[in-house]
Amino acid sequence: MKQILVTGGAGFIGSNFIHYILNTYHQVKVVNLDALTYAGNLENLSSVTRDSRYTFVKGDIRDRALLNRLFVEHQFDTVVNFAAESHVDRSITQPEVFLETNILGTQALLDTAKSYWKLDPEDKYSREYQPGVRYLQVSTDEVYGALGQTGKFQEITPLSPNSPYSASKASADMIVHAYYETYGMPVNITRCSNNYGPFQFPEKLIPLMIHNCLEGKPLPIYGDGMQVRDWLYVEDHCAAICTVLEKGMPGEVYNIGGNNEKANLEIVKLILRKLKKGDELITYVKDRPGHDRRYAIDNTKITTELGWSPAYTFEDGMARTIQWYLDHPEWLARVTSEAYRDYYVEMYQGAE
Ligand code: NAD
Ligand code: TYD
Repeated sequence: MKQILVTGGAGFIGSNFIHYILNTYHQVKVVNLDALTYAGNLENLSSVTRDSRYTFVKGDIRDRALLNRLFVEHQFDTVVNFAAESHVDRSITQPEVFLETNILGTQALLDTAKSYWKLDPEDKYSREYQPGVRYLQVSTDEVYGALGQTGKFQEITPLSPNSPYSASKASADMIVHAYYETYGMPVNITRCSNNYGPFQFPEKLIPLMIHNCLEGKPLPIYGDGMQVRDWLYVEDHCAAICTVLEKGMPGEVYNIGGNNEKANLEIVKLILRKLKKGDELITYVKDRPGHDRRYAIDNTKITTELGWSPAYTFEDGMARTIQWYLDHPEWLARVTSEAYRDYYVEMYQGAE
């Protein structure tokens, strides 16, 4: 029986991951530790709350006393850290909380896991850990910075983050790597491209455009809309994380990408077509400061060494995603309530 601590499990990818592991594995117990920031939504997990294999704990990954208590109580052998401030636009206006949660929170988790898993925690030279334990840090391709017209990010690409968000994620990756080198801790880092799918908060490109389209509101495109992202269907990401947990080599980084490079404008036009709306909703707005032009992932390492590859085409994934938002108007209505409207006005002044 695996005992997994999932942090940030009430967010977009974390909640998809919890559904995925409970559906895929029988012999598993999951504790979801989430601070329930604006991005955390327990409604994403309403269908599993009665599952005896699942427990929710409201709390902060920076709270070391809480982490200690949870490790004693649940004897985790696996940690998957999704908890983070995750939105580039917010990091531009409020960088501090990104550094606190993404860097210091990661360190608190690492320290706690190290002290529980290390066979002789008092011996600084010892590199022996309980068998089968693993810490997995969910990172992002944004730590590599931006690409020009060609090339792809490989695991050996130097880190060169450009936003406060990506800088905080790169810092966390370096701390995780340092715990492997210094203490021999069995860790992995996964760096994925832009995810899309059910339960994504409509501040990110795809759900925001679907939501605005459904409401007949303008679709705010930053700059010329020709920035390129490499889109990954969230279920493929969840499967890739499980593959790394099962087969990943300790200390290794694995890139996870969907092989779907698309310009933002192309995606917005696809959403318009699918929802039978006209291009007149497209509204070009002032570009994001420090906007990375292109991201693309080379996923050769995970596909050749661990045997994972994405199962969904972009067309399939988008069709499922749009259908999910059409089928869940009440979810969308609740997450776009008052606080969301304030955020929207602040972020998109002039594009109402
Ligand atoms: P999200 O913003 O939807 O969810 C983050 C979750 O973390 C929320 O439930 C929030 O309540 C929780 N949280 C925030 N601060 C916390 C704290 N201090 N303690 C405990 N919980 C806290 O994010 P997401 O899109 O699901 O992303 C999950 C992870 O994947 C993040 O680490 C992000 O950097 C990474 N990632 C995301 C994408 C993407 O496309 N969404 C791409 C690459 C990497
Ligand atoms: P986003 O979903 O915020 O993810 P990230 O910044 O992590 O890549 O943005 C994806 C792309 O879409 C990015 O190039 C910015 C662009 N974008 C817009 O053009 N308009 C918007 O309203 C948003 C939210 C994003």
